[in-house]
Amino acid sequence: MKKKMNIAIDGPAGAGKSTVAKLVAEQLSYLYIDTGAMYRALTLAALREGIDLQDGPALTEILSKTTIHLQHEQSGVRVLLNNEDVTEAIRMKDVTSNVSLVSSHEGVRLEMVERQRKLAEKGGAVLDGRDIGTYVLPDAKVKVFLTASVDERARRRYEEQRKKGIPADFDQLKEEIARRDQLDSTREFAPLKKADDAVEIDSTSLTIPEVAKSIIELAKERAR
Ligand code: CDP
Ligand code: CDP
Repeated sequence: MKKKMNIAIDGPAGAGKSTVAKLVAEQLSYLYIDTGAMYRALTLAALREGIDLQDGPALTEILSKTTIHLQHEQSGVRVLLNNEDVTEAIRMKDVTSNVSLVSSHEGVRLEMVERQRKLAEKGGAVLDGRDIGTYVLPDAKVKVFLTASVDERARRRYEEQRKKGIPADFDQLKEEIARRDQLDSTREFAPLKKADDAVEIDSTSLTIPEVAKSIIELAKERAR
C-alpha cells in the first residue's frame, strides 16, 4: 500500500490552524500533531521551575528531562507533561505571553523538531505550527500557509474567550497576537515564514469547513 502523506499547516496566531488541522485529520483518518502545544508545555515547565527564559542551554536541559505526550482521546487531544494533564494550563496567559521567547532558542527547537519528525515518520499526519513546511517536514506533500487579517484573528480569540466566560479585551488580544507574530517571524532560527512551495489560504472571510475542504482537495490532488 502507498505510504500516507504528511500535511503541513503553518501560519500566524489565530489563523485557524489547529481547528482546521483537527478537522482535516479527522476526515482523512490522519493523526493530528499540535506542535505549538509542545512548545507551550515546555514553557509551562520552565515557568514552574523558575528558569530564566533567556537561557537557551538551561531550557534545552529541562526539555531533555521532560516528556511531552499528545494523547488522542475521543474528546480531543490531551497534552501530558511528565504524565500530568496540562491541556488547559498551557493555554493560560502567562504561557501564551512567554512561549515565543522559549521557542526562539535553537537548542530547544532542534530537540522539538527531532521529536516532531519521529511522530510523523510513518506519514498520515497533519502537523500545525510555524516551521513545519520550511524546516520540520520540507518534503511534506501538502503545505498550507494559513493567514487572516490581524483584526479577524483577534476577533476570533476574543469570541473564543468570551464563550469560555474569560474576560477579554480586544485591543490587548490584538496587541499580544501582533507581538507574538513579530517575535515568531523575526527569530533567527526557523522563523515563521511561508515555504516557497506552500499554498497560501487567506481565511479572513472563510468558514472552518471551507478551509478544511480546500486542504482536503489539495491532499487528494497530490495523492494522484
Ligand atoms: O494557537 P496559537 O496560534 O496561539 O499558538 P500555538 O500554535 O499554540 O503556538 C504557540 C507558540 O509556539 C507560537 O507563537 C510560537 O512561538 C511557537 N511555535 C513555534 O515556534 N513553532 C511551531 N512549530 C509551533 C509553535
Ligand atoms: O491554531 P490557530 O492559532 O491558528 O487558530 P485556532 O485556535 O484554530 O482558531 C482560533 C479561533 O478562530 C477558534 O475559536 C476557531 O473556531 C476560530 N476560527 C474561525 O472562526 N474561522 C475560521 N475560518 C478559523 C478559525
